[in-house]
Order: sequence, then C-alpha cells, then structure tokens
Amino acid sequence: MNNNAEPALVVLQSEPLIDAVSQALADHGWWLGEAAVDSELVHALRADLLALRANDELERAGIGRDLDFQLAERVRGDRIHWLSRASTVQTRLLEQMETLRLTLNENLFLGLFEFEAHYAHYPPGSFYRRHVDSFKGAANRIVSAVIYLNEDWQAGDGGELVLYAGSSNEILARIAPRAGSMVLFLSEELPHEVLPARRDRYSIAGWYRLNASINNQIDPAR
Ligand code: OGA
Ligand code: MN
Repeated sequence: MNNNAEPALVVLQSEPLIDAVSQALADHGWWLGEAAVDSELVHALRADLLALRANDELERAGIGRDLDFQLAERVRGDRIHWLSRASTVQTRLLEQMETLRLTLNENLFLGLFEFEAHYAHYPPGSFYRRHVDSFKGAANRIVSAVIYLNEDWQAGDGGELVLYAGSSNEILARIAPRAGSMVLFLSEELPHEVLPARRDRYSIAGWYRLNASINNQIDPAR
C-alpha cells in the first residue's frame, strides 16, 4: 500500500464528503455511507476475519465489565477479535480511522482521543439486543463506527442494524450489513440492535473514546 494512494475511507477523499458526515452527526446523531470503504480494503479485512475464524481466534463477546457469558449469550451472540497493529491489514484500517478521528475533531470539537475496534462474526440465528454503547459509570465512548463486510446480502438475510431515537421506539434507520457500508452514530444517544442474522454476518464495530485513563489504567477494562 503506498502512502500516496487515495484514502481507503471514501469520506476522507473530499471536503464536501467530510462536511456531510460532520453535519449529519451534528444534526441527526448518525450517518450512513454506502460504499464508504474501498472494496480492496473490504476484501482484505474480510479475508483476515475469515482466517481468524478458521484458526479459532474469535472469542465470545462479553457485556460490560463483568464477563458473565451466560447472560451475554442471551444479549448478544457475536464472536469477536480486537484489532491491533500487529496485523498489516488491521493497521491499514486503524490508520484510516485515525485520520477520520482527527478530521472529526476539527469539524465537531468532540475531543475524540482514541479508537478501539473489534471484528465480529454473528453466526446464523445470532443477534445483539437493543443497547447503548457505553458502560455505566464509564461514559467515554462518544462515536460508534460499524463497517460491514458481507457481499451479496439479500433482503431476507436479516441481520439489519436498527437505530432508535433516544428512549422511544421510533426507528431512525434500518441498515443492511452490506460490504463497504459504514455507519457512524453517537454512542450514548442512540439505542440500537442487531436483528437475528440468517447467514454468517461479518463486521467491524469500533468506538472513538475520550481519554478516561486514570493512573495509566485504560478504562474500561476489556
Ligand atoms: C456493537 C453493535 C452493530 C452492528 O457491536 O455494539 O451494536 O451492526 N454492532 O454490528
Ligand atoms: Mn452497539
């Protein structure tokens, strides 16, 4: 990958696009980009996730600080793997998300400090019940970002992300997890859920956070 290449995040390629993202987040609290990530990077990420799955390197996701997996299973059925810079393809994505972080900070004064993300695999029948992306007492996830890696997702395949307006049941959006789509939303403000998937569903879920480290302890613990 050469550094002069166009950014793999399409939104980083032009001022009007980034303005539209910032405006949508400020006005509505969410933004959806279809074809937001270039297909070469999407394919590389998908291959990486499939290899991790084949090597049994995905783990059951917990909820909150205490990993009560029995409870977690009734809430969410995905299997995850945290991204790190030990991997080239993961680093490519993390670098793009870092550029987006700096750009969002310039436009929205959000003070986003860092980005963390995991791959997720939802096996057929799994879901993630309605929730908000911040832990009680550690409200430091500010913007959530989800990127989808599923080719040929069909209307009947389920697995849509449903975004709700605050505490009401009003549905703001119902988003199919199609390859290359990226959704951004305000972590604390928009409850959301993943409807049951009818086939394997692959994605990356990430969060821009404030710096809530105390005495060099990253908060919250993973
Ligand atoms: C999450 C989440 C949404 C999705 O992981 O917290 O809400 O569409 N994911 O995968
Ligand atoms: Mn979530």
